[in-house]
Order: sequence, then structure tokens, then C-alpha cells
Amino acid sequence: MRRLYPTASPDVGAAEAVAVERKPPDERPWVMLNMISSVDGAAAVEGKSGGLGSQADHQIFHELRGLADVILVAAGTVRAEGYGPARPDPKTREARVARGQAEAPPIAVITGSLNLDWSSPFFAQAESQPIVITAPEADAERLTQARENADVIALGGEVIDFAAALGALRGRGHELALLEGGPSINNILYGLDLIDELNLTFAPTLLGGDPIRILRGAALPEAQGLKLQQVLEQDSYLFLRYVRPQ
Ligand SMILES: NC(=O)c1ccc[n+]([C@@H]2O[C@H](COP(=O)([O-])OP(=O)(O)OC[C@H]3O[C@@H](n4cnc5c(N)ncnc54)[C@H](OP(=O)(O)O)[C@@H]3O)[C@@H](O)[C@H]2O)c1
Repeated sequence: MRRLYPTASPDVGAAEAVAVERKPPDERPWVMLNMISSVDGAAAVEGKSGGLGSQADHQIFHELRGLADVILVAAGTVRAEGYGPARPDPKTREARVARGQAEAPPIAVITGSLNLDWSSPFFAQAESQPIVITAPEADAERLTQARENADVIALGGEVIDFAAALGALRGRGHELALLEGGPSINNILYGLDLIDELNLTFAPTLLGGDPIRILRGAALPEAQGLKLQQVLEQDSYLFLRYVRPQ
């Protein structure tokens, strides 16, 4: 990839592209969101994001996963994309262990319904115990099943208290969380001011129609200003990193 901003550089690897100092707040992990969009704003092609990707995009996805203490994802995306557990390559595992992290990051899935397949590889073959983030007043029978298959964080009441749930992740020692979407949870967490960083890949594609965007749901209480930190390019794909202005 070539870096276009803040300083021009002709050859930047994916590991270098994602390496930046991040300062987690005391009360929760630093939350970095990673999303891909077509130039006209589509976040999915036929219900999945895979059709938008490129080799460099996949490399950035894997490098961000490699850095994360925990991966956060909402149940809609787990079901749509058929999520499995994280499986870092040997080099990433080595780097993680050297940094004092688990070889593979746990994945925390956000769900109200607890409509998840407990026998799927996501739960049954995970190296790091999966985490389920839900509301304490979720269906009692499903909550029992969840507790048999995952580390359950149930905070709030009828609805999840997301700030408290992120606090519980911090309490488990997780300082850096990678949020992988999807658009509904992105909207909620941006609305609560709980996302610190946005890694956005722009795929050089126009799709038209009326697809979902990287955020969807109610309008945010206030427009979220973003500060551009980096722009990279490869094969007409743009890789942007934004942070919240401090
Ligand atoms: N372009 C990209 O980079 C990218 C990335 C990720 C996903 N996607 C695409 O986005 C689509 C999925 O996104 P989506 O917006 O439909 O779903 P989503 O945000 O992935 O998941 C929504 C689900 O999260 C849970 N949830 C959300 N808010 C909650 C709350 N306040 N309390 C409890 N649970 C809550 C609910 O799960 P339950 O139903 O279990 O209660 C809800 O159905 C797919 O097409 C996927 O391919 C694209």
C-alpha cells in the first residue's frame, strides 16, 4: 500500500498500517471499529461484506485482529457472516504472546435474543472462551444455555448497559477491543460515544440500490465529528483511519 496522508510513503505493510499508539480510557477498552463500504455507501453485497473486500483489506482485517485483546461483534453479523472463532497465524500468535496477550483473542457477541447456535464452531471450537454480552432480563432458559457455553456479561435491565458491559471487558484485562459491526450496533455504540477509532475501507465500486450503510438505525443524538489520521491506497481501494477528536 502507499500512504497518502499524513506523510507520503510508497510501500507500507499492513502491520505498519495499523500500528499506532492507542490510549485506552480507564473505564473501558479503546474501541476500534473496522468496516468496509463501497464508494456509494453500501456495507453489504447480497447480505455479506465479503464481496467488497480485497487482499489488502483482508490483511488489515487480520492485523487489527492480531492487535485486539477482544473482538466485539453483534449477533446479526455473526449469523449473516457465519462467524467462526479467531484463528491467528503462527507469526501473529508469537507476537501476541510476546505482548502478553492470549494466542487467540476471544470474540464477544452482543445479543438480546440469545438466538445463537451453541453447537457451532464459534462456541464449540473456540480457543479463547467466547463472551456473550446480553441483558439480565433476557430469556432465562437461553441465559442458562449461554452460561454453559460462554462467559456471559449480563448488565443493565431489560436493555444492555453497554458502558457497563465494556467496563466488564476492561475488568477482564482487555484494553483494546476490535468492533467488527454490524451497522445496527455501530449506530448504538456511536450514539453512546463508545467508539474511539474507525478504520474504513472504501472499495472502488458503485452498487446503487438501497443497501445498508456502515451505520443504520435512529439518527445519532448529535453528528459525530471525526479526525482523519491516515490514508492509504492500493488497487484503487482507500484505507482510512479516523479517531474521535479529543
Ligand atoms: N461492511 C462491513 O464491513 C460489515 C461489517 C459487519 C457486518 N456487515 C453486514 O451487516 C449486516 C448485519 O448488520 P445488522 O445491522 O443487520 O446487524 P448487527 O448490528 O450485526 O446485529 C444486530 C443484532 O445485534 C443485537 N443487538 C443490537 N443492539 C442490541 C441491543 N441494544 N441489545 C441487545 N442486542 C442488540 C441483536 O441481536 P439479537 O437479534 O440476537 O437480539 C440484533 O439483532 C450483514 O449484512 C453483514 O454482512 C458489514
